[in-house]
Amino acid sequence: MKDLYVISGVTGMTGNELVRQLVGKENHVIGFDNFFASSLHTVEDVLDKPDFEFFEYDINNAEQMDRLKAKVKEMKTDYSRLIYINCAAVVHTEHFYYVNRTFETNVLGMKAFLDQAIEAGAEIYINCSTSEVYSMNSWSADGGVRESDFITMANAEHSQRTSYATGKLLTEFFMKDAVMEHKIKGCSIRFANVYSKNELYPKHIIPHILHELKEKGSVELLENSKVNKRTFLYNEDSCSAVIALTQAEEALDGSVYNVATEEEISIIDLVKLCGKKLGIDNPQIIFKGYRESDPERRVLNTEKIRERTGWAPAVTLDAGIEMCVKELAK
Ligand SMILES: NC(=O)c1ccc[n+]([C@@H]2O[C@H](COP(=O)([O-])OP(=O)(O)OC[C@H]3O[C@@H](n4cnc5c(N)ncnc54)[C@H](O)[C@@H]3O)[C@@H](O)[C@H]2O)c1
Repeated sequence: MKDLYVISGVTGMTGNELVRQLVGKENHVIGFDNFFASSLHTVEDVLDKPDFEFFEYDINNAEQMDRLKAKVKEMKTDYSRLIYINCAAVVHTEHFYYVNRTFETNVLGMKAFLDQAIEAGAEIYINCSTSEVYSMNSWSADGGVRESDFITMANAEHSQRTSYATGKLLTEFFMKDAVMEHKIKGCSIRFANVYSKNELYPKHIIPHILHELKEKGSVELLENSKVNKRTFLYNEDSCSAVIALTQAEEALDGSVYNVATEEEISIIDLVKLCGKKLGIDNPQIIFKGYRESDPERRVLNTEKIRERTGWAPAVTLDAGIEMCVKELAK
């Protein structure tokens, strides 16, 4: 029998690709978004599929969420499993400094959506957390930072930025608590720097670099970029990890999974790679501004998800940037 999926933030980078990977495969997907950081354009190619239904709803609107719950309860008997995936969040770095903005959706919204999943009788809840929780401890010489490592966080004395990570960390506790109390199965995922060829937000580092290089032949970056290194995960791979977890029920023990690549690159080399793909030799970088409490390196150890689900990323950074550049040329 088919699975019924309920996805919040469905027109966002993770949500829209999840729909693409789930429809046409004996599943039914109900998704909603309030277009805080996306538009219907991202799911245009799947909107007419009979196994996908979209609603313009806000996760913080109790009346809309009640309507959703009633619909799900009515439909659920026709499906073998009911799976909730929470992708709705206030995500981009520019919002991280505004505590109220992120708290309402990322913490209260996540908790209300988890309660809804439990009340609707869902089998599984996938909570999208973030690698930001590693804060100043985002890297380790021992093959990357692990889920079980202790966390050293910057605090309000250093930067308001950590409020986003603190909120996401709290959602991991809600998730674990619900599983420990046998209310549902599920897990939290700590993604690191997801990108996509369809990103609307040119402030994320990869679309920002590509847009600026294409328009001006140069790119403005923070001073931090002189030393920062990152790994980048293509959204097809972040979504295949979510789906792999939903298929490995023994992995849904309430714990946390790192989801990332191990292909670390300096931001300077990333600009060079983007320049090369755009046919620009020696792209100019203008350094301006500085961000407090920004970790210099972020490398996640992904042995846990690889061992428990067999998941591995399939898209190299070179291939991912190539896809972004092709899309930009359209
Ligand atoms: N992109 C990354 O690098 C990254 C890294 C770590 C964690 N994550 C997490 O993964 C999840 C998905 O992120 P994404 O990359 O798809 O981000 P995204 O911004 O592309 O998608 C989030 C979606 O949530 C929607 N949304 C925001 N507030 C809402 C509300 N009140 N009601 C309904 N919808 C709302 C937005 O409009 C957007 O479409 C988030 O929980 C995010 O914190 C992402």
